Amino acid sequence: MERTYVMVKPDGVQRGLVGEILKRFEQRGYQLLALELIHPTKERLEEHYQDLKTKAFFPSLVEYMMSGPVVGMVFSGLDVVKGGRKMVGETNPLNSLPGSIRGDFCICVGKNIIHASDAVDSAEREIALWFPNGVKNYASPLLGLLYE
Ligand code: TYD
Repeated sequence: MERTYVMVKPDGVQRGLVGEILKRFEQRGYQLLALELIHPTKERLEEHYQDLKTKAFFPSLVEYMMSGPVVGMVFSGLDVVKGGRKMVGETNPLNSLPGSIRGDFCICVGKNIIHASDAVDSAEREIALWFPNGVKNYASPLLGLLYE
């Protein structure tokens, strides 16, 4: 089953939105496979955002991501990468529809409360980076209620 990496960013954790975000992914029907509160190092963040290293906002992005603990989660499910991104909304909250997580809870691109992997290969890379001890697959016995 496809997997994705979701991370509540420091502002989301500080604003008490972990439960709300977890609830939305669970309610949708995605399976929670891993969850951890982490104080991320600069090295781990530079690795996570390796594709953005040349961007002008990169240093402030890393600083923001180090401003407090983050909560990393792994979810599995049918098309969970695309489905998860739809739930999260657009990078700039201004373009995120109400009903999406960013559309409901934030205003500014530099404080957009949540990360979700943008492709299946980056999801697997991010899961390996944030959960280096591995993630066990688990399938709920209730899955038959979600899939044809
Ligand atoms: P990106 O991977 O492009 O977006 P997303 O998080 O939607 O996958 O960018 C990573 C983060 O970098 C983004 O969530 C917020 C930050 N960022 C800025 O601060 N300014 C910007 O102009 C962009 C594009 C991103």
